[in-house]
Amino acid sequence: MQNIGSETSKGYVLVTGGAGYIGSHTVVELINANYVPIVIDNLNNGYVEALNRIEVITGFRVEFHKIDLMNEVALSQLFDIRPITMVIHFAGYKSVTESVSKPLSYYDNNITGTLNLLKVMQAHNVKNIVFSSSANVYGNAETVPITEDLRHAATNPYGRTKMFVEAILKDQCISDAEWNCILLRYFNPVGAHPSGLIGEDPHDIPNNLVPYITQTAIGKREFLSVFGGDYETPDGTGIRDFIHVVDLARGHIAALDHISKNPGCVAYNLGTGRGYSVLEMVAAIGRAAGKDVPYKIVDRRPGDIGVSYADPSKAQRELGWKAVYNQNDMCEHAWKWQSMNPNGYRDAINNELYGAFRIH
Ligand SMILES: NC(=O)c1ccc[n+]([C@@H]2O[C@H](COP(=O)([O-])OP(=O)(O)OC[C@H]3O[C@@H](n4cnc5c(N)ncnc54)[C@H](O)[C@@H]3O)[C@@H](O)[C@H]2O)c1
Repeated sequence: MQNIGSETSKGYVLVTGGAGYIGSHTVVELINANYVPIVIDNLNNGYVEALNRIEVITGFRVEFHKIDLMNEVALSQLFDIRPITMVIHFAGYKSVTESVSKPLSYYDNNITGTLNLLKVMQAHNVKNIVFSSSANVYGNAETVPITEDLRHAATNPYGRTKMFVEAILKDQCISDAEWNCILLRYFNPVGAHPSGLIGEDPHDIPNNLVPYITQTAIGKREFLSVFGGDYETPDGTGIRDFIHVVDLARGHIAALDHISKNPGCVAYNLGTGRGYSVLEMVAAIGRAAGKDVPYKIVDRRPGDIGVSYADPSKAQRELGWKAVYNQNDMCEHAWKWQSMNPNGYRDAINNELYGAFRIH
C-alpha cells in the first residue's frame, strides 16, 4: 500500500480515462513508481471493475471520480480539492471507423474535452501534461521506420483530433514557458497485464486486431477477417508495430519522470521498432491458446498501407525508455486475459472477490 502524501511519494497525478485499457495499465505502473493516481472517467468505454482489480494487483485503492471532461465545473471542483501537479490525458474516443461516421462527436469529445481540461489546469496553475497521441497523426506514411519529424498527414477525423490537440498543446507551451507537454504517439498497443486481471475490453465492436483474434480463438467469433493478403510483405498481410500495453504504460512513467527536466512540448514515438504481420500475430495467439485460429483473407481496407513501424530511438535516448516485452509475451498475456475473462469485466461485476467499488 502506498504512503500517500509521504516524502517518498512523487505527487498526485490526474489520469483522465484511467478506467480504460491503456489508462488502467498506466495506473498500475504509476502506483509501482510511487506516484499517487487520481482517476476520472465517464465510463463510456471504461470499467470501475478495472479499478477494483488494480487494487488486487497493487494493494492500493485508487481514488475515482465519475467525471465527464465535458463538465468543466465538476473538473474544476476536483482540482480545487486535490493537490494535482501533473495530468496524463487518455480520455477520448478512439475508433477510426466510428470517427468517419460521427466526426462532430469525435471533434467535440476529443477537442472540447481537452480544451476544458487545459482551461481548468491553467486556472489551477497545473502545467504538466502527458498526452495520448497516436501514430495515426502520420497518416499513411510510405517510409519506415517512422520518425517523429515526419509530416503530419492524418487521413480520418480521429487522427485529426490527435493532430489538432497536439497543435493546441504546442501553442499553449509557446504562450507560457511554464507549461510542459509530452506527446506520446502510440503505435499498436496490445496484450494485457501479466496477471490476466486487467486487459482490453471494448464496450462495443473491437477497434484493434488482437481482441478480434483472441475472441475468435475463444469461439466468440467464427473466423477472423484478415484485410488484404497481397501486400508486398513476406506473407502478404500487413505489418504493424505492436507494443505490449505494460511497456506503453511504463513509457508514461518515463515521460512524467522527465517532464520537468524537459520544458516545452516534445513528441515521442512509443513502439518497439519491429513489425509483425497479421498472420504472425494470429499464429502467436494460436500457440498461446493451443489451437488454430480460423481466418479468411478478404479485400484490403481502403487507405490501409502494407508496412508501418516506429523508430522509437528518440524515446530511448531522451526518456531512457525502451520496450522490453516480446511478441510471445504480448500474445500470451492477451490470451491469458481473454481466457480468464471470456466476457471481459462483465463476468466479474458481481464477483465478491473484488466487491463493489464506491464512486465518490
Ligand atoms: N488503443 C489504441 O490502439 C490507441 C492507439 C493510439 C492512441 N490511443 C489513445 O490512447 C487513449 C486511451 O486509449 P484506450 O485504448 O485506453 O481507450 P479506452 O476507450 O479504453 O480508454 C479511454 C477512456 O476514456 C474515457 N472517456 C472517453 N471520453 C471521455 C470523457 N469525455 N470524459 C471522461 N472520460 C472519457 C472512456 O470511458 C475510456 O475509459 C485514447 O486517447 C486513444 O485515442 C489508443
